Amino acid sequence: RIIPHREKKRKMLFQDIPRKENHPMKDFTYSYPTHVYFGKGVLANALKAELPVEAKKVLLAYGGGSIKKNGVYEELLEILKAAGKKVTEFAGIMSNPTYAKVQEGAKLAKEEGIDFILAVGGGSVIDCCKIVCAQAVTGEDLWELEMVRHKAPSKAPIPLGAVVTASGTGAEMNGGAVITNEDAKIKGGMFAAAPRFAVLDPDYTMSLPRMQVLSGAFDTLSHAMETYFGRSDRDNVSDEVALAVMHSTVVNMRTLLKDINDYTARSNLMWTSAMAENGILKVGRVTDFECHQMEHQLGAYTDCNHGQGLAVLHPAYYRHIVKDAPEKFARLGRVVFEVEGAEAAVDALAAFIRECGLPTRLGQLKSKVEITPELLRQVADSVNLLPNGPR
Ligand code: NZQ
Ligand code: ZN
Repeated sequence: RIIPHREKKRKMLFQDIPRKENHPMKDFTYSYPTHVYFGKGVLANALKAELPVEAKKVLLAYGGGSIKKNGVYEELLEILKAAGKKVTEFAGIMSNPTYAKVQEGAKLAKEEGIDFILAVGGGSVIDCCKIVCAQAVTGEDLWELEMVRHKAPSKAPIPLGAVVTASGTGAEMNGGAVITNEDAKIKGGMFAAAPRFAVLDPDYTMSLPRMQVLSGAFDTLSHAMETYFGRSDRDNVSDEVALAVMHSTVVNMRTLLKDINDYTARSNLMWTSAMAENGILKVGRVTDFECHQMEHQLGAYTDCNHGQGLAVLHPAYYRHIVKDAPEKFARLGRVVFEVEGAEAAVDALAAFIRECGLPTRLGQLKSKVEITPELLRQVADSVNLLPNGPR
């Protein structure tokens, strides 16, 4: 099944980036829009510094209720009320947020005349809010505008801030949002404004279930690997930083396997998560992200956990491409897993996934529907193909 707008996008991408060229470092302009407040107890000061005085009506957005159990909700309400803000709640943002949920949030923001949105949660809440911010100021259908017509929204979005309670995606420090359109059966990346500020308090992640901590951290590892396996293929500073982020992520995940509550490891992982997706690793590079394309479609059909879907797919994808980039795989193996050889690097990654207790087979993924060969055929046929990987 070919999805017409996907096909158009694919052709466009292939034209833009000739495959055989020996890629030089890509041109870039670097600036960073998100102020980051990192550490225990930084929330009150961060909001004091960042909430615009003129913003009177704040939309407090969150997920299924974890923030009510771990005290973050009360803390926030107290600060917002003391600052004289009128608070409207937008609750129930689900994992793998849907375009329908975006519309619900945008309608609420319009009706209430919201002038600031505070997203409190993991990647799902932050991503949903990124598009709510833009959808609330326009009557246009943003999915149609971005995914079919490939245009960016023209109106300035409602400003957004993020309080991170689950790390891994790095969504708090970038301008992309991954949204599931249930009608089109596509989970796709939409463009959005990055949050103006992000609060990263590792304490807020301490109530996360163990498996979510590890799945999130694996997502971070995946982001660094997907960036590293893009191009240019020549050594450059972004590759070195990516390898350091991978190494640190693996080391700290191993610390958590011994003690899931290790605060320093949680802190390091919160920062590697942001580092992997704040654009710094991508400077001068065209990224791969084919494994993410596959996982996103798997998510569109099954609603599986993002990090866990990646854990299943990565070793299979890397076995498929290992011969196309043997030196790069070998270097990753040496730096991250202390093994020699390209195939040994992929084996070490697969062994690490098992060591973490993450799923290794599609059948182990928690899915809202049964994962059948027919369903996987549909997933495969609708995956966005990018021309940037080693093969
Ligand atoms: O909804 P609540 O009750 O808050 O529970 C959530 C949810 O069930 C729970 N949780 C969050 N903080 C918690 C907590 N539970 C206890 N204590 C806390 N402190 O964790 C569960 C998962 O949350 P979710 O936000 O769905 O996870 P994650 O941060 O992994 O985000 C996944 C989404 O981000 C997208 C993924 O595709 C997926 O849709 N991504 C976004 C990216 C981006 N914008 O840059 C990049 C990524 O590659 C990724 O695609
Ligand atoms: Zn990811």
